[in-house]
Amino acid sequence: MPIDELVPAACAQIPDFPQEGILFYDVTTLFANSVAFKRSIDELADRFEGTYDIVAGVEARGFLMAAALAYKTGKGVMTVRKAGKLPRETFQAEYTLEYGTAAIEIHKEDIPAGQRVLILDDILATGGTVEAAISLMEQAKLEVAGVGFLMELDGLGGRSKMGDHRVESLSLTT
Ligand code: PRP
Repeated sequence: MPIDELVPAACAQIPDFPQEGILFYDVTTLFANSVAFKRSIDELADRFEGTYDIVAGVEARGFLMAAALAYKTGKGVMTVRKAGKLPRETFQAEYTLEYGTAAIEIHKEDIPAGQRVLILDDILATGGTVEAAISLMEQAKLEVAGVGFLMELDGLGGRSKMGDHRVESLSLTT
C-alpha cells in the first residue's frame, strides 16, 4: 500500500471528536503498528536524507518520531517542549490555540549555532505549533533543514505558515 494511503489507514478515525463534524485521526494506533511505524520513519529518512545534523521532535507525539528517525540515521534529538518543563534558560515562542495561546520552548545553548535541524511532528493542522518551533530554531541561530509530518490536514492553511522551508507530509487528508 502506498505510504499516503497507509498512514491514514493505520490511524484510528473517530467521528465527531473533539466536536461534531470533525473526523479525528488518532496516530497512537499508527505508532503501535510495527509495519506502519517503520514504513513512516523509513520514508521520512529517505526524503530528508543527508539534509540535517539533528532531529527535533515537537511534544508529545513528535518525540516518538524524532527519536526513531534520529536513532536510525545516527543523529541526536532535540525536544521542543511545552512551556514550563525545561529547567535551564530557554528560548520561547507562543502560538494560538482555538481558545487562547500556548508556548513551546527549547534550552538555550544546547545545540551549536549553524546546525541543520529537521523538525518533526505528527500532524500539520493550522501550522501554529510548528511555526513556533521554526521561530525557536531561528532564535537559537539553527538552520531549519525542513519539517516533516505524518499527516497534513488540507484546508487549514498550515503549509502557508512554513515559509520557504521544505515541508514533507506523508499523507494529505481533509
Ligand atoms: C497537536 C499535534 C500538533 C499540533 C498541530 O498537538 O500533535 O503538535 O496539535 O496543530 P496546529 O498545526 O494547529 O498547531 P497538541 O497541541 O494536541 O499537543 P500534544 O501532542 O501534546 O497532545
